[in-house]
Amino acid sequence: MRNVTQDNITDVFLGYFGKETDPRMREVMESLARHLHEFAKEVKLTHAEWQTGIAFLERMTEFTDAERHEFVLLSDVLGLSSLVDMINSNPQGTSSSVLGPFHITGAPDIPLGHDMKRHYEGEVLLACGRITDTEGEPIEGAKIDIWQTAPNGLYSSQDPDQDTYSFHGIQTTGADGKYGFTTVKPVSYTVPTDGPVGDILTATGRHPWRPSHLHYIVTAPGYRQLVTEIFPDDDPYLDQDTVFGVREDLVMKYVEQAAETFPDGYELSGNIAEQYLMADFDLKLVEEGG
Ligand code: BEZ
Ligand code: FE
Repeated sequence: MRNVTQDNITDVFLGYFGKETDPRMREVMESLARHLHEFAKEVKLTHAEWQTGIAFLERMTEFTDAERHEFVLLSDVLGLSSLVDMINSNPQGTSSSVLGPFHITGAPDIPLGHDMKRHYEGEVLLACGRITDTEGEPIEGAKIDIWQTAPNGLYSSQDPDQDTYSFHGIQTTGADGKYGFTTVKPVSYTVPTDGPVGDILTATGRHPWRPSHLHYIVTAPGYRQLVTEIFPDDDPYLDQDTVFGVREDLVMKYVEQAAETFPDGYELSGNIAEQYLMADFDLKLVEEGG
């Protein structure tokens, strides 16, 4: 087509597709091109703005490697990651939430009652619950991959003072579906702001904070993998998570418990002042294909 205009460029673009193009590829590319072209026309994108955009993407690649996933972070702060989570979630199970860039593979297996807190300062939190199906029946042999920040708000991969797997571990449920471990009460923290995504937050007057949370990935044979996080109801950033990860059913309550009620079977000992916090939270998995 030699007579390309503002009005026909989207159709011309779509007309260039080969006949054998995969139908899903066609559907996604068609919609992407339509929205992209409309966007440029709607805001009357200038050359200078287009150049700024290209320079931004080039800078994004400079900040991206196997450990630093700046594109994932961009998707997170734009709300795209959370939208994809919500589009693909099944309301019968626990909601999913952003994976974030700090999950690491190869975390050690930890027994029920394991202490992740060790020598770290902070309030003791006992996190526990059951992994069940959508009917509330316990799932045996489910694996829960757990991670969180240290009290300084840093994940182990961000902090040379932490062991590789500090505040990371994987538990496997028994017949009662229970998981449980002690840790420090998580803190609110900021997403990395030293790269181009930080510049976007600054340019739009946004803060970089996330409410405190525990991350879980739950897997069990025959069930859909659940990637999620749970948040205490008293966190000041609960209603303004910069990556939009909070869902109503992921909000939990810390219940204060007297030290003498601390249950048997937990590794932590002699480390509780007068009380500890408990977060009792069940996680519901949806069957595969559901
Ligand atoms: C996190 O919770 O680890 C996280 C999620 C999205 C962006 C940055 C961090
Ligand atoms: Fe996190």
